[in-house]
Amino acid sequence: MSKSISGFSKLSKVKKIDWIVDTYFSNAENAKAVLKQYWNDNEKLQQLHDEFIENTITNYYLPLGVAPNFLINDKLYTIPMAIEESSVVAAASKAAKFWLNRGGFKTKVISTTKIGQVHFIYKGDFEKLKQFFNEVKPKLIHDTNTITKNMKKRGGGILDIELRDKTNNIKNYYQLHVSFETLDAMGANFINSCLEQFAETFKNEALDFQLFSDEEKQIDIIMSILSNYVPDCLVRAEVSCNVEDLSENNSVNGEAFANKFVQAVKIAEVEPYRAVTHNKGVMNGIDAVVLATGNDFRAVEAGVHAYASRNGKYSSLTHAKVENGIFTFWIEIPLALGTVGGLTGLHPLVKLSLEMLHKPSAKELMQIVAVAGLAQNFAALSSLTTTGIQEGHMKMHLMNILNQFEATDIEKQTLIEHFKNNTVTHSAVTEAINELRIKN
Ligand code: MEV
Repeated sequence: MSKSISGFSKLSKVKKIDWIVDTYFSNAENAKAVLKQYWNDNEKLQQLHDEFIENTITNYYLPLGVAPNFLINDKLYTIPMAIEESSVVAAASKAAKFWLNRGGFKTKVISTTKIGQVHFIYKGDFEKLKQFFNEVKPKLIHDTNTITKNMKKRGGGILDIELRDKTNNIKNYYQLHVSFETLDAMGANFINSCLEQFAETFKNEALDFQLFSDEEKQIDIIMSILSNYVPDCLVRAEVSCNVEDLSENNSVNGEAFANKFVQAVKIAEVEPYRAVTHNKGVMNGIDAVVLATGNDFRAVEAGVHAYASRNGKYSSLTHAKVENGIFTFWIEIPLALGTVGGLTGLHPLVKLSLEMLHKPSAKELMQIVAVAGLAQNFAALSSLTTTGIQEGHMKMHLMNILNQFEATDIEKQTLIEHFKNNTVTHSAVTEAINELRIKN
């Protein structure tokens, strides 16, 4: 039976681990050894990781892989990807190589505006609220000067503050809807600090606004927070080539490939069951780069999926067409990313990943990430509409199965060779490894 504990966060790391292993594990020593295995002997590095969050008991590793040969706007990149799924990096690399010889990826940042909102309740006349808002607006901006000073110097800051009437949705509900330009920062802390200052100024100034009645003066701030929905922080990535050039070694007919591919995308555009899986494949690429570069993948996921439903029905993030013998495949997605602030200057692997990407600006990173998503989707649809996904997927998964059996290096070598010409399934691998072990 589990037990509750108070003051856990105040315990030392050793004491926390003792409590965890004694409470939850039949073999406490073994559990402790597993946790210990993932600590870093470099004390400073371990402390850095301990302090990212509260109650750290060890580190959780993900592989950091790389997908080379990405030609983006005529510049070559090797893209770092942090992900556990076997086939993702291989698929990205394959798509990169395929497009390397066909002009590469073309990308463009469409917009970079981010949004934050102060949600509040006001019980009174809207005309008076509008008048108050117009009078107080310069002071709202002024009171954030210390927060916005540096951002303004670099060319960013607060773009606009709007008063929005939301009383059709909820009685007495209004918003300050604020747009921001945060340049190379993802901007969450900057935006939230500005919003909290707006809320305070707004509430306090209302107390002195002559036209308000006593009740109207009591503006009730519900919350102040950025929005992870960023439909005006948009990037586009595209590949295109002559339909005939889609055939590799004449093994596939380019036109047939293109037509089937476009059909597959159209299905994802109209059918939510397919769209979700289709977009999951896109996010395989996006999340892996977002993680490797120390960005907030939950924010990106939430924003991207909301965007995929912006027309009232969940739909594909990518689109494809064949026109005048030219195949074009593209993605347009909202991505609020940063290359300064947050983990970007702290986590050694994040710094390394960003350097590998030629120390990109946030705008450049948006383009690289969009390309990773498009490439991943291209690889998935190419397999799905030709050989099926399992052939490549299971080949990559073979190593995981072999590791489950604790296969030796020699066993691995033998079985990898064997499965070059045989279909990989869990039972086929089980059978093959058992046979091998009986023989030897
Ligand atoms: C698996 O992680 C992703 C795919 O299912 C994506 C897709 O179906 O397009 C292969």
